[in-house]
Order: sequence, then C-alpha cells, then structure tokens
Amino acid sequence: MRFNIITLFPEMVEQVMSYGVIGRAWKKGLIEVVSYNPRDYAEDRHRTVDDKPFGGGPGMVMMYDPLFRVVEELRAEKRFEGLDFLTPHGQTFNQEMAKNMAARQVVTLLCGRYEGVDQRFVDQCVDREISIGDFVVSGGELPACMVIDAVARLLPGVLGDDASSATDSFMQAQLGYPQYTRSEILGQSGVPDVLLSGHHERIEQWRMQEAERITRQKRPDLLAGTSGRKKNDPCSDENK
Ligand SMILES: C[S@@+](CC[C@H](N)C(=O)[O-])C[C@H]1O[C@@H](n2cnc3c(N)ncnc32)[C@H](O)[C@@H]1O
Repeated sequence: MRFNIITLFPEMVEQVMSYGVIGRAWKKGLIEVVSYNPRDYAEDRHRTVDDKPFGGGPGMVMMYDPLFRVVEELRAEKRFEGLDFLTPHGQTFNQEMAKNMAARQVVTLLCGRYEGVDQRFVDQCVDREISIGDFVVSGGELPACMVIDAVARLLPGVLGDDASSATDSFMQAQLGYPQYTRSEILGQSGVPDVLLSGHHERIEQWRMQEAERITRQKRPDLLAGTSGRKKNDPCSDENK
C-alpha cells in the first residue's frame, strides 16, 4: 500500500515512520511512504510556498499553486485515489475510517502548516477533511503519521501476528482486554488465575468478558453504539 504525503517537512514524516512495526513494514516493502514537498513545485527562485493572508491577521497561508502542481503530478502518475487533508475542521479520525483506508491501494494525505491552506485549494482539490481531535497542533505531519500508523497496522504481514490487531480496541465496538506479563507477583498484586491455567478456551472467554466489563466501565457509549459517526457523515466511505 502506498501513502503519498504532501508536506513541507518530509524528513519529519520519514523519521517518525521509520520506527517499530511500521518501520519494519516499510523496509519489507509492505508499505511505501512517498513524500511530495510543495517547495519543489514552487516556480520562483525563493521556492515560495506561503504568503500573508488577505484581510490581514497573523501568520502565513499555504499557497494554491505549488499544492495544485503536486496534485497534478500525482494524477498524471496515476497513483492517486483522492486527497485527504489533515485539518482541525475535519471529521474525527477513528478505527472505522482506518479500516476503510486499509482497503485502498493509495492514500494521499495533505499536511497543512502555518495558518492553514488557501481555501480555494481545499474547495477544489480536497476530497475529505480528517481531524485527529478537537485541539490544534502546529502542522499536519504528526496527524498524518498517526493515520498512516493506524492504517498500516491493519495490513496483512505488518504486525508480527496478524491476529493482534483483531483484538485491538475499537476493532469491535469495545476496548481491548487487559494484559499481564512477568513478574507473576508484584507486591500485593498477582495475575488472574485463568491466565496461568493454560486453558485456551477459558482464557479466551475471560478476555472477552473483561473487554466488555472495561468497555462498560470506561466507554459505555461504545456498547450503546452512540460513539460512531453520524449518518450523512462526509467522511464515511458510504457517502462518497
Ligand atoms: C496551526 S494549524 C492551523 C490551524 C487553523 N488556523 C485553524 O484554526 O483551524 C496548521 C496545520 O496543522 C494541522 N492540524 C492542526 N491541528 C490538527 C488536528 N486537530 N487534526 C488534523 N490536523 C491538524 C493542519 O494541517 C493545519 O493546517
């Protein structure tokens, strides 16, 4: 699976993506992360990618033209299935969106910087807007890395054991079960007996019950089915 990242800071994305299971998946060729720097598509000698906002006010805005040229190149290369823009304006990213993305061949993510991107580019070229939560960070690179990580770990072969993502939180409408490892006794705390029993069926059953108990306690909205995206959600692939 290929991730095209439009970013002014390619090294930042490449660094973050080079660790752990995702880094290994990239080395093995299970995923490809290809950066496109709008600065390389600027046509003036200063390689300008941003300018002051019309109407005044603080900060700078990413300009239309360099971004448009990147998209034109991606379209010409035919390695493009639509553009997702990381922005606080977007629909909040969740596991359902990650699952839908994991079924695609190519995901293209636009990382904003400064005060954001010229709205005309967003209107004309962005297919959907994705947020990582109701807070603001300084650029779209970390949000993009979070999306790539969440999607990549769902791809076959990326995790040591493909079954591990199946029991992750949010894969069903519940949280994951609690985990224990050595030492068997930590002060006053032991490990639930069933986990030491070697009885796989009982362990499985215990884990399912624990996942449900914890979900009921911490995220009852998941069990009630009220935390999902609303109908007519522009981010739902059903509505595209
Ligand atoms: C400093 S922010 C711009 C915030 C913008 N002025 C606003 O109020 O919506 C710069 C860039 O960081 C990224 N960003 C910031 N917060 C984000 C979030 N919650 N989710 C996704 N991307 C975010 C976006 O790409 C955004 O264009």
